[in-house]
Amino acid sequence: MIGITGATGGVGSGVIRHLLAAGRDDVAALARRPEAVPAGVAARRADYDDPASLADALRGLDTLVMVSSDGTAETMARHHRNLIAACGPDVHIIYTSILDIAPDSRFYYSPGHQETEALLADRPHCLVRTSVFADFFASTWLADATRTGELALPLGDGAPGTSLVARDDVARALAAAAIARTQGVIDLTGPAALTGGEIAAAATAALGTPLQYRPIEDADYRAMLAADGEPAWLIEAYASMFRSVREGRFAAAPGDVERLTGTPPMSFAEYLRR
Ligand SMILES: NC(=O)c1ccc[n+]([C@@H]2O[C@H](COP(=O)([O-])OP(=O)(O)OC[C@H]3O[C@@H](n4cnc5c(N)ncnc54)[C@H](OP(=O)(O)O)[C@@H]3O)[C@@H](O)[C@H]2O)c1
Repeated sequence: MIGITGATGGVGSGVIRHLLAAGRDDVAALARRPEAVPAGVAARRADYDDPASLADALRGLDTLVMVSSDGTAETMARHHRNLIAACGPDVHIIYTSILDIAPDSRFYYSPGHQETEALLADRPHCLVRTSVFADFFASTWLADATRTGELALPLGDGAPGTSLVARDDVARALAAAAIARTQGVIDLTGPAALTGGEIAAAATAALGTPLQYRPIEDADYRAMLAADGEPAWLIEAYASMFRSVREGRFAAAPGDVERLTGTPPMSFAEYLRR
């Protein structure tokens, strides 16, 4: 039986869709709101802050697609600790970690992912390190930019860029890894790293709305978010992600999506067209 956490989210629901499409009928959707799980799959209540619910929800699983949690870094790490503590030692855990995992990373979420990866070391596991989601980038930054015609972000001036990956490609690859009970480390990225200018050009071509990239400084970006009333942790999360982008920590594109699934990941333009 394959369990999927975050089953009501973008990645988790996609994994379930791909598993069902592959003909699997032994799928359990783990969610804190089981009523929000799409029909056609067994839903189990699993709240990361309720260890008893986790123990019940994990019963009988041999494989767990552990989609990382969200919120502050401390919340995320606590949720992951609770989940792994409740999970039997033989369950094969496929965990969505982050591409920017190096110990010297200053990305806000990196220490939490490092801690979770370490907790998995002594059990069957697969570390699935993802680049920045195309969907996340589009919904968080592109929607506003297309209204003003300007993508003003601290992505730097040119290379190295970001290997944006569509959530559906991540979900497809996670489903394949769950079926194969893949072990080791996999990097899930788009086909190539795109600079700010290339992201704007892809959006212009795909959406038919002219968009220009303008690099801005880290301090100006942080000040903009603060003026919008964003909380300190979110400002740090976004700004530190862009710093990692400028440092080339989200630029790798090693081709693991195609190696694992036989089909290449979609480009950012293709994602936007769809
Ligand atoms: N690489 C990237 O660019 C990027 C960007 C954003 C996030 N992420 C990470 O990737 C993960 C998956 O992304 P996504 O787009 O699928 O996120 P999403 O759509 O926001 O889904 C997050 C899931 O986590 C669940 N969740 C949150 N708190 C929970 C709790 N206490 N107990 C049980 N479930 C809880 C949510 O449940 P509800 O539906 O009940 O809220 C939802 O199902 C995120 O959670 C985050 O760790 C990565």
